[in-house]
Amino acid sequence: DWTPASFVESTVAELKAQLGDDKVILALSGGVDSSVTAVLLNQAIGKNLTCVFVDHGLLRKGEFERVLKDYEHLGLNVIGVDAKERFYKALAGVSDPEQKRKIIGKGFIDVFDEEAHKLKDIKWLGQGTIYPDIIESLSITGTVIKSHHNVGGLPEKMNLKLVEPLRLLFKDEVRRVGLEMNMMEHLIKRHPFPGPGLGIRVLGDITPEKVEILQNADDIYMRMLNEYHLYDQVWQAGAILLPVKSVGVMGDERTYEFTIALRAVTSTDAMTADWAHLPYEFLAKVSNEIINKVKGVNRVVYDISSKPPATIEWE
Ligand code: XMP
Repeated sequence: DWTPASFVESTVAELKAQLGDDKVILALSGGVDSSVTAVLLNQAIGKNLTCVFVDHGLLRKGEFERVLKDYEHLGLNVIGVDAKERFYKALAGVSDPEQKRKIIGKGFIDVFDEEAHKLKDIKWLGQGTIYPDIIESLSITGTVIKSHHNVGGLPEKMNLKLVEPLRLLFKDEVRRVGLEMNMMEHLIKRHPFPGPGLGIRVLGDITPEKVEILQNADDIYMRMLNEYHLYDQVWQAGAILLPVKSVGVMGDERTYEFTIALRAVTSTDAMTADWAHLPYEFLAKVSNEIINKVKGVNRVVYDISSKPPATIEWE
């Protein structure tokens, strides 16, 4: 029978046999899958694993620093790369969602490739691919949304072999494996977060100023979801910065500022999703807090669309 403990034991043994003294490189995203993959590989081959964690400037507020610390705490050999400026530059003036995805995906591969070339004798690329990712990329009808996330194209380019220890697992099994290896709960219970990050939650063109506004609003939303014990009850949540300004009033001043949309959904696989029926009082508090604290925002709305026909992300 499958248990997290037996999976860890047999997988670590298999990885040891498969990899021997070979060196492996892996891109960490801050998400559950890549993190669990890293810890498994670390148990098998230790310092022969090098992890690269890229800050594309589109992560949640404080996320890069927080997660990097977690990774170090887990004993991972991790290189943090600050590539914010480079991504902002490449994205300047671009507003088409697919174009933004392509730019972010390519930027990510370029940075990772550069880091990999600084290292010697790398033979393998570790990836946090899980079973649904494989199904998704095989399906003809489903749109392939995660191609860049798993650094597609890199293995051929760099002549690397792929090692994907989670390829037969579902998300809940990955989480159980992570807990079995004593990984922090907050890392394991983290909501899914798209590879292009806030890049597809700042609707339209991206500027560092807009990213900062969104990070501040999103941070309040995430904190309060945790405070009110609602975080674990939804599949995924986040704030979106709409490219819409509207009129408001502050004191006796007229304001003309951005609108934030809040999104929270329940789901089991992200293929279909229902909008989460968060309590009114909670939404009222979040809205007040965002409008009072985040400069540049004077209006908050809640997304009550389900998937299909809406998608979870707005872009
Ligand atoms: P949608 O918006 O298609 O999202 O309902 C379904 C799930 O996929 C995530 N998502 C992405 N993940 N790169 C990713 O790695 C992407 O470009 C991307 N677009 C959407 C989304 O957050 C949700 O979990």
